[in-house]
Amino acid sequence: MSENLTRRSFLKTAAAGAVGIAAAGLFSGNAFEAKAEENIAAEFDGKKKFAGIGSIRMVADDVAYLGVSEWRIQLFENVYPIPRGVAYNSYLLLDEKTALIDTVDRAVTGQFFENLTAALNGRNLDYLVVNHMEPDHSSAISEVIVRYPEVKVVLTGAAAVILNQFFACDISDRAILVGEGDTLNTGKHTLTFVMAPMVHWPEVMMTYDDVHGILFSADAFGSFGALNGNLFADEVDFEKEWLPDARRYYCNIVGKYGSQVQDVLAKAAGVDIRMLCPTHGPVWRENLGWILEKYSLWSSYTPEENAVMVVYGSIYGGTESAANALAARISASGAANVAVYDVSKTHVSELIAEAFRCSHIVLASITYNMGIFTPMKNFLLDLEAHNLQNRRFSLLENGSWSPAAAGLMKEIIDRLKGCSCVGETVTVLSSPDAGDADALGALADAVAESVKGGGAPEEEPAEAAPVTRWICSVCGYVYEGETIPEDFKCPICGVGPDKFVKEA
Ligand code: FEO
Repeated sequence: MSENLTRRSFLKTAAAGAVGIAAAGLFSGNAFEAKAEENIAAEFDGKKKFAGIGSIRMVADDVAYLGVSEWRIQLFENVYPIPRGVAYNSYLLLDEKTALIDTVDRAVTGQFFENLTAALNGRNLDYLVVNHMEPDHSSAISEVIVRYPEVKVVLTGAAAVILNQFFACDISDRAILVGEGDTLNTGKHTLTFVMAPMVHWPEVMMTYDDVHGILFSADAFGSFGALNGNLFADEVDFEKEWLPDARRYYCNIVGKYGSQVQDVLAKAAGVDIRMLCPTHGPVWRENLGWILEKYSLWSSYTPEENAVMVVYGSIYGGTESAANALAARISASGAANVAVYDVSKTHVSELIAEAFRCSHIVLASITYNMGIFTPMKNFLLDLEAHNLQNRRFSLLENGSWSPAAAGLMKEIIDRLKGCSCVGETVTVLSSPDAGDADALGALADAVAESVKGGGAPEEEPAEAAPVTRWICSVCGYVYEGETIPEDFKCPICGVGPDKFVKEA
């Protein structure tokens, strides 16, 4: 136990709590054989994994950036295409005590340890702060412990459980479990820990440094995209070059958890934050209000722009033709900010991001196996999974003998909070002809009018019932429901309903 830990943290850690006890039990099943540990230590002793040099930049005079960019990866989380690569960010505080904040993905540990060794320059590592346990940030923890046997690991109880689940990593003799508002003094700096459950996993916390006003924000304010040597957002044209990937990252990775992001933004509002250091993408040291405003819009499901996306699913071109005619008429009617996408060709992660950007979404689908065209159905279900809200939809269906797609799409839209339809649904039989022109024109005009009017619903969407949230007092997991079942067990830390507190 560190003498630098505050009394509150010490009591919390000493008491261990339900998670601490559970974690200690798990940790007793140490997967590291002592002999293997010796061998690993001997192998690392004084050696570099590569013969390269560290690629370090300074975030502040005593805070180093140790992150590594990777261009080889094709799919982030084995789902999302990232042609611009990705950066795994890690930071080192060089105070009287040293504190590493998060590590990296296993794909880049070689360069990471080059960086860590060079930045420490012979000093010991005193603390490893684990803001986020997802393996793209925690895969190097085991090796950090082997290389720096004295290091203390600072993390939430939920993170300790997940660390053991992923890596069978025994930290029972070095864990410092922290909760909301706990602090750690490293000399000149005091680090304050801010719980951020479900941004993006339940164990997430953020770390605030009082000297530089840095918020080490875990996944929040991150982005897809490798850093090309440019560490700071003000060193690139962020809006032009990075915003689409920052939006796509947020909406697909964290988009479902808007209310939890709003909770963190509310906490941040009263804090003097001068720098945002996320786990992916550039560091923010200027114009923080700009990215905070984007997060405020995205997390409240407010359209970023008064704009229209037209998404069509077509096999033989009839629906594509109708969708293009609609787009042209919408633009000609005065709502010029229109983008058209072929649902079969554009990756669904880009469509999700565009849906978060645009106020209006026109869906044009063929009828397929008496249902919605498969990629269109997948897109709509993904929108639902990401909790999209407050949009205006318009529908076009095509069918050669029994058109049915529009009604089925409407069923999904009706499940989205604050969403409703604009204009009369258009039904095309096989391919649009002159007889469809009036209906297409009327729908396009209705969409354009709605865009120009700011997207107010033609009729008030059904008000969703307010959701009651229960917060696990041990790990921060959020349960949504009027009551918690008596036999409910927290999926993260295993405690029962008596440990859950109703959100005020
Ligand atoms: Fe980059 Fe949620 O991990």
